[in-house]
Amino acid sequence: MAETHERPPEQFTLRLRRYDPESGESPYWDEHTIELEPHRSVLEAILQARDRFDGSIGIRCSCRQAICGSCGIRVNGEPALACHTHLDAAKRSAREGVIEVEPMGNMPVLKDLIVDMDAVHWKKIQRVTPWLLAKQPVPEREYLVEREAMVDVTQTMACIQCGACVSDCLAMEVDPGFVGPAALAKAYRFVGDPRDDQQFERLNDLAQDPQGIFDCTHCFKCVDACPKDVNPMGQIMRLRRIAGSDQHIVDRNNGHRHEAAITTLIKDYGLLHEAEMIPRSYGGNSWFGKFHPAAGRELLSSLPVILKAVLRGKVSPKLALLGHKIGKQDLQAVQKIYETVESREQRYELNLYISGEDES
Ligand code: FES
Repeated sequence: MAETHERPPEQFTLRLRRYDPESGESPYWDEHTIELEPHRSVLEAILQARDRFDGSIGIRCSCRQAICGSCGIRVNGEPALACHTHLDAAKRSAREGVIEVEPMGNMPVLKDLIVDMDAVHWKKIQRVTPWLLAKQPVPEREYLVEREAMVDVTQTMACIQCGACVSDCLAMEVDPGFVGPAALAKAYRFVGDPRDDQQFERLNDLAQDPQGIFDCTHCFKCVDACPKDVNPMGQIMRLRRIAGSDQHIVDRNNGHRHEAAITTLIKDYGLLHEAEMIPRSYGGNSWFGKFHPAAGRELLSSLPVILKAVLRGKVSPKLALLGHKIGKQDLQAVQKIYETVESREQRYELNLYISGEDES
């Protein structure tokens, strides 16, 4: 007789965040006991709660196979696809064994676990002109492109528009106008496409926008949140590199120069030198850069923040002014890394998404 590995159903406690803006009542938590096999998904648990206990629970879903992107929620505080999260895994990460499900963040709640994707996510996707602006004349049959060029954009093409990265974006939490990780990853999809005719225009637009590519704070939250390994932050960094280093776009946000200041400071000192940051960001590496009027203005406007940090003991004035010191050998080791990278003829973009070799 064939051996079966089916595990028997178990009981799980599900805590659901409930909210109906039209009711005028505050959000509240609702708890149900679910009986399902542990390998079943959180989505199945929510649907069971809806079928058995309360038909008014709001949840959006379609494919149940991590393809359509419609079941994005938060499970135990982390963004996830409900259909792609096993109950036993969710229980392991739960507090006191209770699986908590909530709507995604950074988007208004329409009802319970359903958020308004139109109000935020799709609006931002539209912002980046999410279609190919083809080179002319369009070939009679098809464009022929290098295989590598398409591999390069494959990672962004894997996005299923679930909104998990938007939900967890810290920059968007502070600045809701930020174009955001999903839309900027979508922008790279076309910036990196050799058939597109508007690479410079797309990059210039997103570099000059104060809420564009330089508004990302590099927090990695979107990288962790993405269920498809799209690495939105990595795509934003690639947009920045192409804009600044290849297209030589000087953005009015001073973003590219600020990045250059960080890299040259680390090259010179081995660690960040906070007191040099503003002068270099505005005046470049020269000694006279310190006297750039914009650097003075920025320094003045940053004084309250600096003072607060000093008073709270987060920054020591001596360390901030004189910079951190590392050993000579350590500094040489850091500078050796720079030499190796800078001596390459071409910038090497590591694409970890596609691996393996051609058989030919
Ligand atoms: Fe389609 Fe979950 S239901 S991704």
